[in-house]
Amino acid sequence: MASTVVKTLRPTGRVLQSIAPLGLNRRGNAWFEDVEMGPPDPILGVTEAFKRDKNPKRLNLGVGAYRDDSGNPWVLPCVRCAEARIVEKQMHKEYAPIDGLPEFCAKTIELALGKDSYVLKDKRNATAQSISGTGALRVGSAFLAKFWRGNREVYVPNPTWGNHIPVFEHAGLPVKKYRYYDSDTCGLDYKGCKEDICKIPSESIIVFHACAHNPTGVDPNIIQWCELADLVKHKCLFPFFDMAYQGFATGDLDRDAQAVRIFESKGINFCLAQSYAKNLGLYGERVGAFTIACENEVEACRVLSQLKIIIRALYSSPPLHGARIVEEILTDPDLYDMFLKDVKTMADRIISVRQKLKEGLIQSGSKRKWDHITNQIGMFCYTGMKPEQVERITKEFSVYLTRDGRISMAGVTSKNVEYLAKAMHEVTK
Ligand SMILES: Cc1ncc(COP(=O)(O)O)c(C=O)c1O
Repeated sequence: MASTVVKTLRPTGRVLQSIAPLGLNRRGNAWFEDVEMGPPDPILGVTEAFKRDKNPKRLNLGVGAYRDDSGNPWVLPCVRCAEARIVEKQMHKEYAPIDGLPEFCAKTIELALGKDSYVLKDKRNATAQSISGTGALRVGSAFLAKFWRGNREVYVPNPTWGNHIPVFEHAGLPVKKYRYYDSDTCGLDYKGCKEDICKIPSESIIVFHACAHNPTGVDPNIIQWCELADLVKHKCLFPFFDMAYQGFATGDLDRDAQAVRIFESKGINFCLAQSYAKNLGLYGERVGAFTIACENEVEACRVLSQLKIIIRALYSSPPLHGARIVEEILTDPDLYDMFLKDVKTMADRIISVRQKLKEGLIQSGSKRKWDHITNQIGMFCYTGMKPEQVERITKEFSVYLTRDGRISMAGVTSKNVEYLAKAMHEVTK
């Protein structure tokens, strides 16, 4: 290809000569002139539009972060106490080990699997602290990209959390979907889900939301989880559990972990991403863990050694502060009791505004069925509103949400629920 010599003066004063192919049209130091503008994040885009709106009644139901009944962010009292103790201890700021704080890791996986876990008794878990749930998913996908010997396609529910697909694809694992949500019932498409799982090639990776499925708020019940576990075992699939909401769904940490524990009890090995963003409100502290339940202790040691190699190359070692807070809470009986109360406070508030929203819609005169609002669980409600109804509710009522009709129940309060119910009724009549 013909080329032209481009001469540019660098800031250091040195003359840079580079060969640019003819027609490339790059000017001087504009190395990235041809980089296109990426699309804004769909959820952050909702917040941006909300901020520009001057309507005093405006509502932001896009963001997945808990708010108290006055609409304010809430730092959990157990976190405040743990943090005060940590400050008092005047702890060092050295690097954490590559795989994180050992006590934090031990307590975190115990929180998920329970004290009676066979995996833990057999020391078959390879657990590493992670940069919250997303970091756990990313480290896990990097490990699978390198070591998974089966089918490389990862199967996720349709729909799934918006970041699952980019995270797996970023690690080089192509993503496919299995049926999950039934838009007619606003509930689980259990038949479709099982049919699709039956068609997944054996030795594939399958992603499950352990509880409080995001974005739909629709979870299988215990019997369905048991049947899904049997199916996964029969098909020889490898389950990847994403547990971003343990405790946040029902207010009960053990109950919310039952899906993972059912799989474990059936002798199925799995991997697990945990996050303390929602259940401890440690969103910005970025604290979580990634675990692989292995066949035996020796395998777990080898797997952990490889996870450490991946982590070292990605970000070297995890941050200390959030993990120290969690460790303090999980090792101190009083703080742990506070945690149980705090997480229940959040879950109960969400459950109560779900009820109020449903009642508000009925009182507004809506003839539609809204049972799914209270049947769904966790932070999100998949309202069933169509994109044109979402557009209307935003334009006419300044209610902001994602185009798929998902609302964050965390943004609904006893003060704004009536306004929201009326607005939803108006656009869904
Ligand atoms: C299903 C699901 N997985 C993982 C995450 C990860 O969150 P974080 O990285 O903040 O822990 C979220 C957050 O919204 C989520 O909804």
